[in-house]
Amino acid sequence: MKYRKAIIAVIGFCLLTEFGCGSSEEKSSDLVVYKNQEAPIEDRVRDLLGRMTLEEKVYQLNQVAFGKHMTANNIGGEMAKVSPLIGSIIYVNQDPNLRNDLQKKAMEKSRLGIPIIFANDIIHGFKTIYPISLAQACSWNPELVEQACAMAAKESKVSGIDWTFSPMVDVARDPRWGRVAEGYGEDPYTNAVFSKASVKGYQGNDLADENSIAACLKHYVGYGASEGGQDYIYTEISKQTLWDTYLPSFEAGVNAGAATVMSGFNDISGVPASANYYTLTEILKEKWEMDGFVVSDWNSVKQLINQGVAGSDKEATLKAINAGVDMDMADRLYLDHISDLVKENKVSINRVDDAVSRVLKLKFQLGLFDKPYVPIIRENNRYLLPEYISTAEKLAEETMVLLKNSDNILPLDNKVSSLAVLGPMAKNQEDLLGSWSAYGDAKDVESIYKAIESEFVQSKIFYAQGCDFDGNDTSGYTEAINVARKAEVVVVCLGEKKSWSGENASRSTISLPKIQEDLLLKLSELGKPIVLLLSNGRPLDLSRLAPLSDGIIEMWQPGVIGGKPVAGILSGRINPSGKLAMTFPFSTGQIPIYYNMRKKARPTSGMYQDITKEPLYGFTHGLSYSNFKYGDLKSSKTNLRKDENLIIEIPVTNASNVDGADVVHWFVSDPVCSISRPNKELKFFEKKSIKAGKTEVFEFHLNPIRDLSFVDSSGNKILESGEYHISVDNKKIVINLLEE
Ligand code: BGC
Repeated sequence: MKYRKAIIAVIGFCLLTEFGCGSSEEKSSDLVVYKNQEAPIEDRVRDLLGRMTLEEKVYQLNQVAFGKHMTANNIGGEMAKVSPLIGSIIYVNQDPNLRNDLQKKAMEKSRLGIPIIFANDIIHGFKTIYPISLAQACSWNPELVEQACAMAAKESKVSGIDWTFSPMVDVARDPRWGRVAEGYGEDPYTNAVFSKASVKGYQGNDLADENSIAACLKHYVGYGASEGGQDYIYTEISKQTLWDTYLPSFEAGVNAGAATVMSGFNDISGVPASANYYTLTEILKEKWEMDGFVVSDWNSVKQLINQGVAGSDKEATLKAINAGVDMDMADRLYLDHISDLVKENKVSINRVDDAVSRVLKLKFQLGLFDKPYVPIIRENNRYLLPEYISTAEKLAEETMVLLKNSDNILPLDNKVSSLAVLGPMAKNQEDLLGSWSAYGDAKDVESIYKAIESEFVQSKIFYAQGCDFDGNDTSGYTEAINVARKAEVVVVCLGEKKSWSGENASRSTISLPKIQEDLLLKLSELGKPIVLLLSNGRPLDLSRLAPLSDGIIEMWQPGVIGGKPVAGILSGRINPSGKLAMTFPFSTGQIPIYYNMRKKARPTSGMYQDITKEPLYGFTHGLSYSNFKYGDLKSSKTNLRKDENLIIEIPVTNASNVDGADVVHWFVSDPVCSISRPNKELKFFEKKSIKAGKTEVFEFHLNPIRDLSFVDSSGNKILESGEYHISVDNKKIVINLLEE
């Protein structure tokens, strides 16, 4: 039945569109190899490459942007500017018809009919916007993230996108850096797990599947090590740190089959990431045998001049292509210079052929040669489908972190007589989408205020904005205070505008502007119970806000689902299960602070005298309405050989009358090693639902070479015998790895 429907749909598409579906008369044996769907991809690539001129090859290595601000007046002119030979387009438009028109030009107006690959930044959704990636990590639910990415892929594909510039798997430890919103936090292992999950989600089991799009691991590598949290800046990364901190998430994504990698803007201790032969060729392509291609970041080839390693556009081109950048995004330098560089024997034709083969291979894998056009589906069947929305909702529910809950103020009784919902975020829709929100529309987002109104139908809900996100206008304070006076509980909605995080959005301080802090201060003087709801794209300094609040929920930027999940947490309809994937420092001055810092000479001293040595909320912090009690760790053995595996388990009891979900994080520490390792390192995590009053046993299947070894500064895994500590929460077990 399903099969019949599919055939009818294909016939329908062929009839309805001007795009042919290939003649059934043509026998595959009559076709040239590259056009023959039955031939192996390697043969098709080789055959096509053999037919291409140098000019045609060079075009394949270029990516230009197209689609912004299209009007009936300019569209013809803009289309005419695009060469039918172009390799790739950053398609910043939602219209699949326009995309098909461009594709038609490539297929029919170029000598060999090589399809274009269309790309865009689908970072946390296309039209159905999911929570930002940093929030997604706090769900500790990679399966759900994989599902969201698969749905984002579907929504993108029907809009004409074949390739997304996602996931960003840059480990990031400075919350002043705006791009922390786009990644999965401070820990290499966490980034690696979500790297794999999102690649699997976007690409599915087969790139040729009609719902799959190619993923792109970015920004290779070390971009998150930004000095002082500034963007586009130099990074100082030792080989040791490169290997143990910044490379693992990329290696995991490559092993998961990521089709492409984007080279970063940063300079890695003197050698820019987009001209770095060691990272791009020796590690990525040779050691890891990544057979996809590398695209530069936007203008990152030309920017080699700004970084001082190239004196001209031509020299920048030479450095980038010879280092291993296969496709040039935006700056068109490859187009202008590669042919000459080949003729001058500065770039070998083998290098060009290798780059072109990688690009063509992905086009074949995606099926673009055989089905270059996307079917045209009606808009209301394309976007915001019910299953997308319910995944977005579930994911948002799991990402939210209950940071504080004094005297169990939360959940609020459903029959609470009245709530004052205050603050600049209360009725805001736009900023709940977060940065890089593609085609997300604020109109589709439910505000916190609206969601609270629907959740607490029996209560009176009052509202006042109180103040804006920033500035000095305190004239709304009085109204907010008066409104708060009337209410039983005061819910204050503060946070960051979406433009305060993301690219080129670093901030010198991670506290909220004074105008927002002062609003909370004034409200707290009323002595009413205060619940603080925060929506932001980075960890914040809450040192002044936390003492003034009885309950705090970090709702991040939840995307299109808006206020509904947080309203559910307030009422108790949802039991929070999110836990921080990035430390909330006590204050900006405490940065850098992250859980896996290396061991230091004097462990308990040397910290800042004027503040606590602890972060305000550490990595994995997050409260629940259930009360989870941890039993003792039990190991199948305590002495083991290097080639033996081990199962360690811990029982977790839900000692409450509320069903909930808990995440168990398994850490390893190595007290004595030939290099100084971090205090502890996350090696595995698992999330499980635990019914009220029940116990679940969590297991860690420890594999010594994977979980106990360290990597040296050349990337070799080294496993030393001796004692290791395995811990969960405050429970610890010691195991001994025997000499061979
Ligand atoms: C960003 C990338 C992004 C690219 C294309 C760059 O400025 O750094 O993350 O994928 O633009 O939009």
